[in-house]
Order: sequence, then structure tokens, then C-alpha cells
Amino acid sequence: MKKINLFTALILLSSSLFSQAPIEMKIALDQPAGEISSTMWGVFFEDINLGADGGIYAELVKNRSFEFDAPLMGWNQLGELPEGSILVVNDSKRKGNRRSLRINKKVDFAAGLQNEGFRGMGIKQGERYEFSLLYKQISEGVKLKLELVDSSGHVLAEGQLPLTGNGEWQTAAVNLTANATTAGGKLNIWFQGTGEVVVDMLSLFPEDTWKGRKKGLRKDMVQILDEMKPGFIRFPGGCIVEGRDLANRFQWKNTVGPIEQRELIINRWNTEFSQRLTPDYFQSFGLGFFEYFLLSEDIGAEPVPILNCGMACQFNTAEVVPMDELDEYVQDALDLIEFANGPVDSPWGKIRAEMGHPAPFHLKLLGVGNENWGPQYVERLEAFQNILKQKHPEIALIASSGTGPDGERFEYLDDKLRSMKIDIIDEHYYRPPAWFLSGAARYDDYDRRGAKIFAGEYASHTTRPNGPGRSTWEAALSEAAFMTGLERNGDVVRMASYAPLFGHVEGWQWSPDLIWVDNLNVYGTPSYHVQKLYSLHKGSTIIPIKYEGKNVTGADSLYASTVFDRDSGELIIKFVNYNNSSTSVNFQLNSKNKIVGTASKITLANPDLNIANSIEQPLAIQPVTDQMRYNGNVVKETFAPYSFTVIRIPVR
Ligand code: AHR
Repeated sequence: MKKINLFTALILLSSSLFSQAPIEMKIALDQPAGEISSTMWGVFFEDINLGADGGIYAELVKNRSFEFDAPLMGWNQLGELPEGSILVVNDSKRKGNRRSLRINKKVDFAAGLQNEGFRGMGIKQGERYEFSLLYKQISEGVKLKLELVDSSGHVLAEGQLPLTGNGEWQTAAVNLTANATTAGGKLNIWFQGTGEVVVDMLSLFPEDTWKGRKKGLRKDMVQILDEMKPGFIRFPGGCIVEGRDLANRFQWKNTVGPIEQRELIINRWNTEFSQRLTPDYFQSFGLGFFEYFLLSEDIGAEPVPILNCGMACQFNTAEVVPMDELDEYVQDALDLIEFANGPVDSPWGKIRAEMGHPAPFHLKLLGVGNENWGPQYVERLEAFQNILKQKHPEIALIASSGTGPDGERFEYLDDKLRSMKIDIIDEHYYRPPAWFLSGAARYDDYDRRGAKIFAGEYASHTTRPNGPGRSTWEAALSEAAFMTGLERNGDVVRMASYAPLFGHVEGWQWSPDLIWVDNLNVYGTPSYHVQKLYSLHKGSTIIPIKYEGKNVTGADSLYASTVFDRDSGELIIKFVNYNNSSTSVNFQLNSKNKIVGTASKITLANPDLNIANSIEQPLAIQPVTDQMRYNGNVVKETFAPYSFTVIRIPVR
């Protein structure tokens, strides 16, 4: 064993004593520094990674209306189908949904179709599933036999559906109850008997959807959002707003009204990444703008729609609409406000009412453009702004600051948008952890008088662009550190949302994502837990916290922000220890304040920055709550290595 002399021992002892000496921080409860907005922490929803179709929209049948480019994509033939027995009919009179299948059975042979679902169908033992269709009987005699099967062909549920009718389009439905669970289910539709029938909208939904709504949303996926209590939902994206070209842009009017009339288009993420091609990715719009508004209302989040500004994605075609054709786009914005807020006797308010929601949705925020840049954007945005501000001064306008948080494009737009007096500027940053750590003071010197900030899309990317970004603890902890800066500057940063929201483990195009799902399960990444902790412990008033007289933005790898929660009378400390050793801190409250009861301490910690949650281990990292007693007006606390901690302290 190596010997050490007395002098070295003394140095080591004193340095270890020194490293254990608590750090002193001051919290000035008597100097509130602004209000936290009720929309501070929200979510960003986009139909990417099978987020909507194959995700939160609970439809289990892929290509139910045969409108994919290849009409029978997702469908496989069962039994015998002699030439001419199944025809793809294209009927130009049927609005938004021209194709259907004409089944012609002159004799009673075994014939059917199998739908493969979205990477299979999630079927749960004991649950009921409703099969439904639209059909038109040409000649009597065809009846349907339905089967849910697993990947080996075992039948999990069965049902019969006779088809009767008078040559008009009509609906029919039957319930199937599953006797086993599988993530890889398939639907068999057998056409029995003889006769001729035209079928469309072949559909299968679980009965157990969010709020039990028929043909509704996947319950577990909404539940995990609801548990975050997000202040807003931004929808429908993202690049999907822009489209690869203008024809492929998101047009909200095509996503409302009867579902069978909502015209399907290709999902731009179908072809976006050559290494993650997803040829079967389309947008059915079963989850459309009405459903987005309803979802926002359900979970108490402000709806934040983002509309196309007359420009397609500038990374793709970069098409722009000529200025003299922009009116249609501006009209879409005006009509959307009417759809959301207008009286039931207004043209669009009436459609909302007919869809089942006579009460307004109270839209207050509207975005124009996503990741658009350059003078061509400013020119179009100005046209929107002029009309919207004149007709709807009550709606706050959100504008894009481009694709990144710095550089020429950003500087140009930031200047322009401020001089245009845009209400809210949407900033995006997908950057490595080091950027988030060094950016905790980003907003400390932002102009307080002008536009507010919406951190509309961000995520710490541990490995990009060559491989899948992993949603590791390192990424999440760096976000937590950065978010102390968002919170400290909550008077100017009014909204923030991580992006993207959902990823399907077998159908993703972009990662990291906040929440991962397969056909049966859902779990939150470490970043999800960070977002949720910020949202659940939002507070109402910004309180300064100082270390050696300065904001806590990374000195000694420590990050902190504090808020007061008027409703509960609690001081809330958010603290990131980005060290591989514990750190002790004395938080000195100003002398007038006293701690008056039991505090709670919620910790997310792991010494391994590389750890992540997964379908197999969904809670490898999760928050742990302790009850704490602190006395007088000093909070003495020790923080675990690589930890994010929220402490709620009742104070008087
Ligand atoms: O969140 C994924 C994509 O990232 C969004 O669609 C886009 O706005 C950004 O580039």
C-alpha cells in the first residue's frame, strides 16, 4: 500500500472537508421578479413517428378507406379471389373519399381480406372492439365474418355481420371481445355467401378509448399527457404544417366534418428520411382540428394551432404562394378563429356545433408559419398580421424565428419580428447537452419590453445526426438545467414545449421523443419526467435565487430557479446538480419568511448519465418523493450526483 505523509494527509482532509462545506444560496422571497404564465409548460403534438395514425388515434385498421397511393396497401388477400371478384372503384361523386371495394361473389367460395394494422394491432384480453363499415348492397346475400387473430393465426375474437340494404350507402357494426392479448393482432374479414356489395371505411376501434368516446383516442396515450397537466397543446406540428410542397400542406378545413369525407393525404414523414422510409404513412385526419380542440379542452390545455403561412418546407420544395393568392391562407386563419370561437349561427361556428360542441373552444393563441425564414416569410406574415390584428386583436399571434436559435437567419427574423411587434416569437433548438447546459442564462438579458418567447420545439440530442438520438438521463438533465433559465425568465418566456411528443418503437422517423409507445404500452422518457415535474410544480411568481450574488446558471455545475405558488403558499426550488458527487446547499430565505410545515422533495437522479427508460424497463428512472422537515428560514439540503430535484416548502 502506498504511504502518504502527514502533510499530504492534511491537504486531503482539508480539501475533503472543504468540498463538503455547504454552498450558500440566497432566495429573495420578498423580491418577486414576475409572473409565470398559466401556459408556461405545454406539449407539442405532430403526426410524426406514428403519433396520430397508428398512435393516439385509436383506429386499428390501416388504410381503412383504400385511399393510400396503393389502394390495397396494408391489406392481404385471404382464400380465393377469382379475377373481378374484388374491384377498386373510384367514384368521383364521393367527396374526399372516392375509392371503395366492390365485392362480387357469384358463388360461395372462401374469400376475404386481412388488415395488418399499424405494425400489428394492439389487442387486449377481455376488451371489446367495434368493427364497423360503410357499405352499399348491390345484390343480397353477402355476410361478413370477422376475426381478430394473433401473428400465428390463432383466433382471439369472432363475430358475424349480415349485410342488408337497399342500394344506398349505410353503416353496420359488430362488437368483438378478445380472449387473449397480442401486440401483433390482425383483422380478418371473410365475405361469406353470394351476392354483391360495395364496402368502405372498414374500421376497428377499441371500446375503451379516452373518455369512452366512440372511435376516439387511445386512452393510455392521452392519460400520460393528462398526467403532465400541460398548459397548452401546440398542433398539428411541426413541418407537417408546411408540407413538402404546398399541395401537401396541412389544411385544417379538410380535417373537420364527417370522418369519411376527410380527404387523406400522404404524411410528409413517409419519405423524409431515407434511412427511415415509412411507405405506409398517410394522414387519415380521423384526428382532425375538432378532435385537437377537444383534446385540449379535455386535459385543460390551451389550444395552440399553427397554420401554414403560404410557404412549403424550405428544406424541401420551398414553394411559396404568390402574394396575390395569399388571401385563401389568411381566410383559413379567420375561419379557424370562427370555427373555434364563433357563434353557432356563424358558418364555421355552426360546423363546430354540428360536430357536437356548440360552446366555443376559447382560442387565444394562433401561430402562422413553422420554421419559415427569410424576407418571403416576413412579407406573408405581415399580410396575416394586418388582417388578424384588425379583425381579432384578442388573438395573440405567434411567429417563427426559423429553424435554429442563432445565426444569420435567426438574427434577421428576431429583429424583424420585434419591429413588427409580433406578440410571441417561436424559437426552436435541437442541440447537444452541452448547448443546453451553457444556455441556462440565454434569456437573462432578453428585452423585457417587446415580444414574448415561445420555446416551441426543443430537445437535447445526445447523438445526432447519424444515429437515433437516445432519450437518456444526460439529455434530460441538461434540459432540466436549461429549463431553470426558462423559468427564471418566465416573465419573457411564456410558453415552452419539448418536441416531438410521441414515438412508436417500430414506426418512428425522428428521435429522441418525449414518450414512446408500442401497440400495447406507453412510457415516459427521463425528459418526460423532467417536463412533468416542471409542469406540475409551475408556481405563479418568479423568485430570485442567487449564488455569490449571481443567477445559478452553471457555476460549479449547479443550476437553480425558484417560484412561489400563491395557491398553496409554497416556495418551490428547482435544482440541478450536474456533478458526479453530492452537493450540499444552504438556501437562506430572507429573514421575514419562515418555513411553516412539512416540505416535499421530489428527486430524479442517477449516477449513470447514459441510463434510459424502455418498454421493458419503463421506470428505470422515475421521480422519488420524500417528506422533509426544515427549520427557521434556512433550507439545508444535499443533492445526489447527477440529480434534478424539486422541493416544495410551505412558507409564511
Ligand atoms: O419535431 C420534429 C420536427 O423538427 C418538426 O416537425 C419541425 O418543426 C422541426 O424541424
